[in-house]
Amino acid sequence: MGKTIIVTGGAGFIGGNFVYYMLNKYPDYKIICVDCLTYAGNLSTLKEALKNPNFRFEKLNICDKTGVKKLFEEVKPDIVVNFAAESHVDRSIEGPEVFVDTNIKGTQTLMEVCRELNIPRYHQVSTDEVYGDLPLDRPDLFFTETTPIHASSPYSASKASADLLVLAYCRTYKFPATISRCSNNYGPYHFPEKLIPLMIINALADKPLPVYGDGLNVRDWLYVEDHCKAIDLIIHNGKIGEVYNIGGHNEMANIDIVKLILKKLDKPESLITFVEDRKGHDRRYAIDPTKIHEELGWLPETKFADGIEKTIDWYLNHKDWWQEIISGEYQNYYEKMYGGK
Ligand code: NAD
Ligand code: TYD
Repeated sequence: MGKTIIVTGGAGFIGGNFVYYMLNKYPDYKIICVDCLTYAGNLSTLKEALKNPNFRFEKLNICDKTGVKKLFEEVKPDIVVNFAAESHVDRSIEGPEVFVDTNIKGTQTLMEVCRELNIPRYHQVSTDEVYGDLPLDRPDLFFTETTPIHASSPYSASKASADLLVLAYCRTYKFPATISRCSNNYGPYHFPEKLIPLMIINALADKPLPVYGDGLNVRDWLYVEDHCKAIDLIIHNGKIGEVYNIGGHNEMANIDIVKLILKKLDKPESLITFVEDRKGHDRRYAIDPTKIHEELGWLPETKFADGIEKTIDWYLNHKDWWQEIISGEYQNYYEKMYGGK
């Protein structure tokens, strides 16, 4: 029989992609998106999903225990997948408080409701950033699930705190949860404040491309659909109480990504502008995804060369989606962060 899945944060980048992935793959499942539509949540991302009778949207804050409990009591989900979060490191440096509220308190609220209602399964979408960073001169080092938590930014510290709470609930209450820690995602519906969409959009407008520091920081990029496939495997076949690392074995320096985007768009490298470095900027992230490969058979399927091509095409073909975003409140943010640069 079809399952009912609550997807929190489904109006955001990865949650939105996950909603479409699940609706397509499981035509007998009901998918309910819980999202309070912060600056990063966008109902137009869910425009097609909203036409599907198996999909429902609930505007709700995950910190609102009464509202969450009422909804969960009504729909009796089989699985809750928590994507809802404040997700941008730079914003966490400017204003950490909401990161504590949503990422920590929101996670605890969801788990508490699930516990009270005996919801059979909870999944926490976490990040490789909880492990801190690796040095550039030790390419032999990778994050495994047993790497100690060593968060650097208020964002990663809030995600790490949530992970610790999930693991504590598993141990103390035998709470039926899993955690996934994924590397940097890219693909459709990525909010334009993040590296790849920001660079595509600025290049299209012949605006400066702001590269932090020396541009040599390394991230391990994964096409968002591969992340969705991994979460699908974990929620159906993963072991309760376990953490699964997800990564693309695709390490790239920021400057190389920026140059590649310029090349694909036939724009000059003179658009690159080196700006002041991010405070506490993590140097390198690199995931060892052996566990999820061996236990659940997951492997990244999209090569970066293909994924970046698809992503650039998507931004070229969906100007309405991002033009609406960059013409609104986002403009104030951009001015504050990059004004004069
Ligand atoms: P996003 O910022 O694009 O989307 C977050 C969504 O959560 C938005 O729709 C927002 O409206 C919603 N939201 C925020 N606060 C809420 C609240 N209090 N109640 C209800 N909804 C709320 O984020 P994303 O990039 O899609 O990331 C999704 C998850 O994946 C996050 O938990 C993030 O930590 C994790 N993650 C992201 C990446 C990445 O590369 N983007 C990598 C690894 C893990
Ligand atoms: P981001 O997309 O914010 O993801 P994260 O910080 O979670 O890895 O940034 C990716 C990398 O790109 C990171 O090293 C910071 C860098 N960066 C820039 O150089 N310029 C920018 O304008 C942004 C947004 C990021």
